[in-house]
Amino acid sequence: MEIMNSDFVEVAALIDSHCHLDLPHFDEDRDEVIARAREAGVVAMVTQGVDLPSSRRAIALAERYPEVYAAVGIHPNDCADFQPSMLDELRSLAAHPKVVAIGEIGLDDYWKTVPMDQQIRVLRLQLDLAAALGLPVILHDREAHEPIMAELRAWVRERLPGTPLAQRPPYGVLHSFSGDLAMAHEAYDLGFILGLAGPVTFKNARGLQVLARQLDPDRLMIETDAPYLSPHPYRGKRNEPARVKLVAEKLAELWDMPFEQVAFLTTGTARAFFAFDHKP
Ligand code: NI
Repeated sequence: MEIMNSDFVEVAALIDSHCHLDLPHFDEDRDEVIARAREAGVVAMVTQGVDLPSSRRAIALAERYPEVYAAVGIHPNDCADFQPSMLDELRSLAAHPKVVAIGEIGLDDYWKTVPMDQQIRVLRLQLDLAAALGLPVILHDREAHEPIMAELRAWVRERLPGTPLAQRPPYGVLHSFSGDLAMAHEAYDLGFILGLAGPVTFKNARGLQVLARQLDPDRLMIETDAPYLSPHPYRGKRNEPARVKLVAEKLAELWDMPFEQVAFLTTGTARAFFAFDHKP
């Protein structure tokens, strides 16, 4: 496995745990984007599926670039036309050796593009698929804190035990976490970790920064959500995985910790979470 090759790289290696490299935003210069990530110390990037076509594109990118891994899944805003047969397709895509998670899945009560009961139905099916496959989940939660925690509670207590994933916590990540400290603690207690992206660097994000100071550095992954959520001072511009470094630098400041230690902790967490060392 490439990222294990050098002890030097080991020290400042970063992992972008959530990005969307298949989007047309990168069609002009994808090779350069990956090269800049490499130069910034990013040793792995997990590109997300939001529907079946993007899940297939994520796998194609993982085949093309050694540092890219794929998550496959159906996003809550893209599940209006969900058919049960799509689960079979996801199951066969997930058998690819570079698929490391089921995602991006979850609930979204902000855009309201799909009725909540449909989103919940599709989320439940994908949580159970992940459990059966032993793969962690990457969770999107926008303005849906209470319903998503209700779903995770029910999943962990009633349906997860006895499945392959139950042998290997953490079970998932709440990506670009936007809840409060009580929600973070409940997520930890249930066996989940958190992800932080560019918003923690925003000048007007004092609330999120106060929260970030209180989060457990051992249960956090960093991410870009590129091409979205570009960190300060690139807010509003196209984001790319190299800028995960700005998220790590902000956490170093908030946690009063050397940058190298933030890199070491978050990269270690991501390696264990995605089980990269068991992948080709
Ligand atoms: Ni995303």
